Amino acid sequence: MKTLATMMAAVAALWTGAAFAQDGTSAWSLFHAGDTRAAAPMDAGKAVFQNRCTACHGEGPDKPGTNALQAKYNGAKPALLEARTDLAPQLVKFFVRNGVSVMPPFRKTELNDTELDALAAYLSHQAPKAARKSRR
Ligand code: HEC
Repeated sequence: MKTLATMMAAVAALWTGAAFAQDGTSAWSLFHAGDTRAAAPMDAGKAVFQNRCTACHGEGPDKPGTNALQAKYNGAKPALLEARTDLAPQLVKFFVRNGVSVMPPFRKTELNDTELDALAAYLSHQAPKAARKSRR
């Protein structure tokens, strides 16, 4: 019963977290005013990223993904995937389904297509914006 109570608390926390995440991205939604479909997948995609990817692609010293991308691009591109402005959805999906180096492939039983779509939308949302701006 204690386990059940803990689980219920976790579920409640997740719901609360989702509500906050929605608030956090409202500025982004305003920027893309009119595109009301975008907000929900963005939140879902961010949640998937935090659950499945940040262990390796988060910030900090012991993140094999971030470290490997720092070595690969040597600063030419951000080591953090969330800071990238060049990730196309198809590229994200390719790496997630196929894996690379120590990154494992994620099967559909681990990460379904809906979750992957949301994840790819989240990681690529900065790409078109960057293409329009062309700073540097
Ligand atoms: C076990 C650690 C690990 C996990 C978990 C992981 N990755 Fe990776 N990922 C890596 C490493 C390491 C590389 C770089 C490999 C290389 O090219 O040297 C990488 C590379 C990538 C690349 C290629 C980037 C580029 O420019 O070459 C993408 C995209 C990517 N990961 C997305 C993800 C996503 C999305 C998730 C979550 C679903 C994820 N990864 C989970 C370790 C991980």
